Amino acid sequence: MTQEFDSIVAGARDAFARAGTPAELENAKAQYVGKSGRITELMKGLAALSVEEKKTRGAAINQAKQAIEAALTQRRRSLADAELEAQLKAEALDVSLPGRIREPGGLHPVSLTMERIEQIFASMGFDVADGPEIESDWHSFTSLNNPPNHPARSMQDTFYVDIDGDDGIPYNLRPHTSPMQVRYAHQHIKRYQEAVQRGDPMPEIRVIAPGRTYRVDSDATHSPMFHQCEGLWLGENVSFKDLKVVFTDFCRTFFESDDLALRFRPSFFPFTEPSAEIDIQFQSGPLAGRWLEVAGSGQVHPTVVRNMGLDPEKHIGFAFGMGPDRLTMLRYGVNDLRLFFDGDIRFLKQFR
Ligand code: DAH
Repeated sequence: MTQEFDSIVAGARDAFARAGTPAELENAKAQYVGKSGRITELMKGLAALSVEEKKTRGAAINQAKQAIEAALTQRRRSLADAELEAQLKAEALDVSLPGRIREPGGLHPVSLTMERIEQIFASMGFDVADGPEIESDWHSFTSLNNPPNHPARSMQDTFYVDIDGDDGIPYNLRPHTSPMQVRYAHQHIKRYQEAVQRGDPMPEIRVIAPGRTYRVDSDATHSPMFHQCEGLWLGENVSFKDLKVVFTDFCRTFFESDDLALRFRPSFFPFTEPSAEIDIQFQSGPLAGRWLEVAGSGQVHPTVVRNMGLDPEKHIGFAFGMGPDRLTMLRYGVNDLRLFFDGDIRFLKQFR
């Protein structure tokens, strides 16, 4: 190759090297091997030459053209490599970041209380029953000696559901677990009927029914959704004395303290007669000396027993309804009920 071609090739290499992007490179390419590029122009100039000259000059031009194309290809490749490199860098995953830790879960504090309540009552021979949260008016109120339009109904601010029951009265989100008293008796009615037929002693009903309950109520100590646990013990010889023994035992086991006093304070519920609120008092610790209400209770009203399909002379006993949320607050020293239902992991993981 002559010096003329050498410098063209060197110029092309230079121009290609200066092109920093594929578009710049294509522009530089056009100046050499494009339609009116240097090499193309030189080719055109061959036409005027003799055959002999065409041969030697043509060969030299071709050689230069090949060298330019090789340089072009090489530059294209290195630009593409650089682009890929930049992209990889931009999209890089920094695998040295600490992973997201999945901490071990745990039971919700109210669930812990529910489990504890179930264990304690199961150890005293109580069955554990579960029932619907959408309940008929009859089960929630009427069966419990609380007929339509009775003023005692206003003791509970109830959520009604847009479905009418058989009596034309809408279903509700159960405002308490007490409907489980009648439901449970109905579920086991065969056992009692068979005992009557055989002349056997009447089987007892001894059950607790923990679960979710609902009322139109919301502040630091009330939540529209809350928990209750119903208790029912009926038999031929079950008395208020048994209620006192059972409930005192329960509280002392639950709070792991014998230093605990109970008070049965006269009250009113349509489904019990007599009725009592149960208050407890710790003798030591931060709550010492204060009476704290933990349950409603009473001797089951004969009308309720009849609505169970049973004979109130044969099934006598007591019922109670307590608040596991309240028990959880007392046990762990939590003073705002809403903390239980906010779902804040920082609060909940303390109970793990
Ligand atoms: N159901 C009552 C309430 O939610 C609590 C209650 C009181 C339940 C007395 C009972 C009972 O079983 O005997 O306010």
